[in-house]
Amino acid sequence: MTSERDLSVDRLIDDPRTRIIVCCGSGGVGKTTTAAAIGLRAAERGRRTVVLTIDPARRLAQSMGLTELDNTPRPVKGAAGPDGPGELHAMMLDMKRTFDEVVIAHADPERAKAILENPFYQSLSAGFAGTQEYMAMEKLGQLRATGTWDLIVVDTPPSRSALDFLDAPSRLGSFLDGRIIRVLMAPAKVGGRGAMKFLNVGVGMVTGTLGKIFGSQLLTDLQTFVAAMDSMFGGFRERADRTYQLLKAEGTAFLVVAAPERDALREAAYFVDRLAADEMPLAGLVLNRVHGTGAPQLTAERAHAAAQSLEENGADHESEQAEADVLAAGLLRLHAERMEVMVRERRTRDRFVSVYPDVPIVEVPALAGDVHDLDGLRQIGRRLSGTDDD
Ligand SMILES: Nc1ncnc2c1ncn2[C@@H]1O[C@H](COP(=O)(O)OP(=O)(O)O)[C@@H](O)[C@H]1O
Ligand SMILES: [Mg+2]
Repeated sequence: MTSERDLSVDRLIDDPRTRIIVCCGSGGVGKTTTAAAIGLRAAERGRRTVVLTIDPARRLAQSMGLTELDNTPRPVKGAAGPDGPGELHAMMLDMKRTFDEVVIAHADPERAKAILENPFYQSLSAGFAGTQEYMAMEKLGQLRATGTWDLIVVDTPPSRSALDFLDAPSRLGSFLDGRIIRVLMAPAKVGGRGAMKFLNVGVGMVTGTLGKIFGSQLLTDLQTFVAAMDSMFGGFRERADRTYQLLKAEGTAFLVVAAPERDALREAAYFVDRLAADEMPLAGLVLNRVHGTGAPQLTAERAHAAAQSLEENGADHESEQAEADVLAAGLLRLHAERMEVMVRERRTRDRFVSVYPDVPIVEVPALAGDVHDLDGLRQIGRRLSGTDDD
């Protein structure tokens, strides 16, 4: 069953103008799975594709040959035939390593060494809120710049707040632009010796206070770090801004992934609004893990009623027949619950559609087990393209 407003993933990935697909959504909804499935499908339909995954589940990573975090794309064995034009490469984002690469590429060796060894750098690169998002952008920019790929499919970090990666450039900037940092930077920026001496008194006072709070070694480290980063961070901002522009450009498509539940769709609505506000090109909504049934004609009410009469039959006597009735009643109750879930999911979906009538949607059913191998990804890919209707 397809209609005008259905999202056509095949049309998207078959269009040579589509160069970047970004899968976003809140945590646990199936972003990584969707990104990998789309990448595989695109490769098998002839495109030279790379998937940038972030924290893939272990078994899925293994099935794609992603056993080590080496931060570069590797060919995925068993994906796309050797004779076809399509290829699938995959990588897992190593945030720290991406950060290191940026430092090494943009600072002279001595300064790079000072930065890399600085404890502030080490905690910033590993854990500063937003660095993962920022580094995903950085990596996307790098992959795009190589010109090697027909299509780059990007997974996004499981951000607590939606679309953090859109804010990453400005947040990284505001961290580095921050007031404490400006104060600490002051001595390094002043030219004359007299002024230097004068300023150092003030800074000495400030750092004296901060030193009591943070410890003076820590503070020295912070100063060293900021001084070293200062020479680069114009470059950081610039590249982040460029990648941000790339996301807005024609050739990029965003997919919002969500579960068919009220909270998840509320979050999805937020994503849709945010993308619109940033003028990011939204291709549609992937409604993942939608429930279905083999017996759609048996309603919840009828199943409950039938279960009840079977239970009443079985209640007052013991026999094999009564046991079978109780069992059948149990199955009918399960079916009824499933039907209730489906009705609820449908209603939630309809509510979303009434608010966002122009957002194309594709539904992917909940598969029986986890998606942890290429066949599982192929199955998801078929569902995404509406070619698998069982
Ligand atoms: N349609 C689906 N049917 C069954 N399991 C799914 C489906 N989509 C995702 N999963 C499973 O759900 C879990 C979370 O998916 P994942 O793609 O890692 O989510 P995210 O990247 O959004 O956190 C994984 O174990 C994955 O195998
Ligand atoms: Mg994920």
